[in-house]
This record gives sequence, C-alpha cells and structure tokens, in this order.
Amino acid sequence: MAHIPVLLNEVIELLNPKNGEFFIDGTFGAGGHSKKILEMIGEKGLLLAFDWDPSTELRANKKVEERNESFLTKKNVIFVNDNFTRIKDVLQEKKLPKADGLLLDLGFSSDQLSDSGKGFSFKKDEPLIMSYSENGLTAYEVINSYSEEDIEGIIKDLGEERFSKRITKAIINNRKKEPIKTSFQLAKIIRNAVPGNYERRRIDPATRTFQALRIFINSELENLKAILDDLELILKKEGRVVIISFHSLEDRIVKNYLRNLKNEKKVELLTRKPIIASWQEVSSNPRSRSAKLRGAILI
Ligand SMILES: C[S@@+](CC[C@H](N)C(=O)[O-])C[C@H]1O[C@@H](n2cnc3c(N)ncnc32)[C@H](O)[C@@H]1O
Repeated sequence: MAHIPVLLNEVIELLNPKNGEFFIDGTFGAGGHSKKILEMIGEKGLLLAFDWDPSTELRANKKVEERNESFLTKKNVIFVNDNFTRIKDVLQEKKLPKADGLLLDLGFSSDQLSDSGKGFSFKKDEPLIMSYSENGLTAYEVINSYSEEDIEGIIKDLGEERFSKRITKAIINNRKKEPIKTSFQLAKIIRNAVPGNYERRRIDPATRTFQALRIFINSELENLKAILDDLELILKKEGRVVIISFHSLEDRIVKNYLRNLKNEKKVELLTRKPIIASWQEVSSNPRSRSAKLRGAILI
C-alpha cells in the first residue's frame, strides 16, 4: 500500500515554507511531505531529507523512475541515510546554516509495512528484524535472548499491553522448543496467549507487542528526546518545528518539551492542543487515526 502523507495541509500551514527557505525533513519516508515543501521553497530553496532506513532512498528513486519525474535527484535536495539525531552534526559537516523549518513524522511508513521484508507487520511472514537501520539490534535477538523480565517490561511499557505477562510467558515457553524466527510465528504465539475476546476483537492481539518491539529496537523515544534537545542548534530564530506522533508516549514527550521551552521563553507554541485528523482523512487514510501534530516557532 502506497504511503499517504498524514495531515499534509496542516503540516504545511504550520511550517509555512516560503520561496528560497531551507527546510529539513527528518523522516523522509515516501517523501509525501517533502514533495510539498519542495514545491513551496522553489528552486532557490534547499531541502535536507533524512531517513534511517536505506531502502527508503532506493524506493524513492524507483518510484521516480516509474513516474519519470525527478525529485531526490534535484540539485536542491540533499538526502542523508542516517538517524535524525545526527542532523546537527550533518549541518556542521556540510557547512549548512540553521534551518527555517524542521518536520518529524515519527514511526514507520506504509511502505515499510508492506515491502520492507523486515517483519514490521504481523500480516506478512518475514524474518523478525524490525530495525530501520541496516546493522541495528533485531527483534529476533530480543525475542530469543532477552530475559523474561526485560521482554515483559518492553511489551508492558512501550506497548501499554495489559496482557504483557501472559504474552511474555508464551514467548519464553515457545522459544525453549525452537527459536522464534518470523513475524507469523510470533503473531501466532501472541494470539494464542490472550483471551479470545481480546479488546472486543477491535485490534489484532499482536498490534501492541509489535509496536513495542519496534519502538524499543529503534530507540524511538530516546531519539525523539535527543532531537528535541538539539532544536536550538538546528533551527534559526523564527524557525518552525512540526512533529507528528502516533503513540501517547511520544506525544507526551513532545508536549512536555515544547511546554518547557515555552516557559523558558525560547519558543511560542503553534498548537495549544494537538491537531488530529478530520474524519474525512481518517476514513480515506486509517493510519491518520492516531496521529497527533504539535508545532512551535523559535523566538
Ligand atoms: C511515517 S514515515 C514518514 C513519512 C513521510 N512523511 C511521507 O509523507 O512520506 C517515518 C519515516 O521515518 C524514518 N525514521 C524513523 N525513525 C528515524 C530516525 N530516528 N531517523 C531517521 N529516520 C527515521 C522511518 O524509516 C520512516 O521512513
């Protein structure tokens, strides 16, 4: 399934990209937001796009070929395959100024779910990798070698899963028989471990455990805190930051950081409450259902 950018109009309105400005997209993904930003900053502007997943760039270039239109290859686009926590270093290395705007659209893209081959989705039978980067920690290592206590903590804290104990016990019992190698194997173990009417059958029982593993493996909360610490090194005065999160723990981090910066008179908030998707957007793009957008401007 092709990735549809979430809250696109709202993001652009808050980022307010102007002709000739310098923007950073910390989570390029399928480039949906980047494409619009690029249109607005024009040929005199500059876009620095980051994505940790090396397949993102390959995928984007393949799509460019299919559509016969250039995007990543434009002179005013620099793509960096790295963690967005390195943005401040890359600005120095490439002798770039502070930016007019920064976008973070957290988590993973629909493309990664459908064709990364890394086991992000419990709907596809793939090896348990779940790491965005090439040589990172894998879900296989966590599931097959971490202690019961550690696995339970991950599932409970990062998945907010109330059956974390049962799920962990089932994982430990199953891995004694044979290593748990694939997303289908793991999903089946989880489904068998929870009550039949789990969450009134509204979500697949594997959803929260898979989410927790992905967040843990990629240190997603730590990365978010690290980049929020760097905001003043990345953005110039009047620079705008917009962050879309999909998890309550992420949104809490963003909310608290921005509130503290506001109290220190370093930013003005562009959003009092998080912006959420309209029902029209949710019905055409279910992924937007849990999105929360917050923004601020440096003063
Ligand atoms: C939700 S998608 C972004 C979608 C994009 N805005 C679009 O409209 O196509 C998030 C992307 O961020 C990447 N990502 C996640 N954590 C990252 C990090 N710490 N540094 C760089 N990229 C990251 C993922 O690989 C994924 O491609």
